[in-house]
Amino acid sequence: MSTQVTPNSPLQSEIIKAWQKGYESQPNEYSYWISDIEGQVPPELKGTFFRNGPGLFEINGQPIAHPFDGDGMICAFSFKDGNVHFKNKFVRTEGYVKEQTAGKILYRGFGTQKPGGWLKNIFDLRFKNVANTSVIYWHNKILALWEGGNPYHLDPATLDTKGLDTLNGILKPNQPFSAHPKIFYNPETQQKILINFGVVTNLSSQLHIWEIDQSEKLLATHQHQLSGFPLLHDMLITPHYYIFFHVPFKIKPLPFLFGQKSIAECLKFDSQSQTKLLVISRQSPHEMKIIETDPFFVFHHVNAWENEGKLYLDSICYDSFFETDSSINFREDDLDLSYLPKGQLLRFEIDLVQEQVSYKTLETTPLEMPIIHPEKQGYEYRYVYLNCADESTGSILQQGIRKIDMYTGDKQDFSVAPYGFVTEPMFIPSPNASTEDDGWVLTLVYNAAEHCSELVVLDARDLTKDPVAKLKLSHPIPHGFHGHWTNQLFL
Ligand SMILES: [Fe+2]
Repeated sequence: MSTQVTPNSPLQSEIIKAWQKGYESQPNEYSYWISDIEGQVPPELKGTFFRNGPGLFEINGQPIAHPFDGDGMICAFSFKDGNVHFKNKFVRTEGYVKEQTAGKILYRGFGTQKPGGWLKNIFDLRFKNVANTSVIYWHNKILALWEGGNPYHLDPATLDTKGLDTLNGILKPNQPFSAHPKIFYNPETQQKILINFGVVTNLSSQLHIWEIDQSEKLLATHQHQLSGFPLLHDMLITPHYYIFFHVPFKIKPLPFLFGQKSIAECLKFDSQSQTKLLVISRQSPHEMKIIETDPFFVFHHVNAWENEGKLYLDSICYDSFFETDSSINFREDDLDLSYLPKGQLLRFEIDLVQEQVSYKTLETTPLEMPIIHPEKQGYEYRYVYLNCADESTGSILQQGIRKIDMYTGDKQDFSVAPYGFVTEPMFIPSPNASTEDDGWVLTLVYNAAEHCSELVVLDARDLTKDPVAKLKLSHPIPHGFHGHWTNQLFL
């Protein structure tokens, strides 16, 4: 039943072409009740699913060179009484407004250079805050997140942009606030705390960490000096620790300063150095242990927990980093799938007394975008849901959702291969759930065969069953990044 193919087989080439169609800009902003529904949306599934990702891949015909540089576009799926309303709107960032007014690219990006060669880019160190990476609902606000600056505040009902937000003065203007905040749930008090970090990199680097309550009051803040060029995208938390993977990168700043290359092209993963695990005490602001392990690159972590003096970390690890060449159009790049780094699920065990770490590989199938039960953040957990490749096609692109039972190792897969592509899953517990996996998994699928997107609702207890519902949009949504669920409705 499976089709074994070698790298760059005709099927793989077709899949790559299908994937690239998902990088077509979606300049339109919609608002409508979804009428094309397969199956039935459970009426007890109530709330709003927000998603963020790039919506534009060119400015007035001038292409951007990296999907990380696309202007953020928020999608909102509102679930009410078995019906679902869809809305999408661009974040009106300062850069978005200025570029749309000027009709051309005005900023350099992570992988994008301004048109016109090095003379147009020399000594221009401004980046556009594209507000495209994630979204969170906190203290009655939608925050569109980008790790290099302040979040943008949006109205949750209209998705209108209110402006940059400092979280009630907690952040300084332009201070980085990562796109991977954690919501830490205390089962004893039933209180939730927002924990996030930001890295300021100048001649040296400072890591800032904040704990913020539901009324947007600052509960704790930490600051640590870091060496080198820390590319921290995500973090782990437990009741007593914050954990970061300080990945070894070398940076050659001169080609960037002199306008010859984008910052992404000046970064080099240093496979000869070690990855440093930064274990920071939540209770003692100055206590940080640094424990070295093999050189792994990490975008995303699954979870961490404490047990008998040890820390356990589950993370998606790569043994190299994605090379960027801004002269290659990522929408036409004939990807060499055998060459691309593959994310694998690893478990790290840290002995905090001996300050030693060991690890083992739990999964070798290419995986990314892990999600767990929201109240298991920082605690031992049983189930994880991830984007995964469909190995029957030989492709490593994300075309399925895998559920893994961490107690038994059992796996379940949902696939939309060969011409469908998933986005980060979202797990929503069922009201009065009796088990950790009692709930639903949502994923926004880009269906290249129809050049449309659809929101798929799965029964989290059994991903192998037919979807509970498929909500078909009348248009495509480009490949996106991260999302957020809230039980609040804003209709
Ligand atoms: Fe991320």
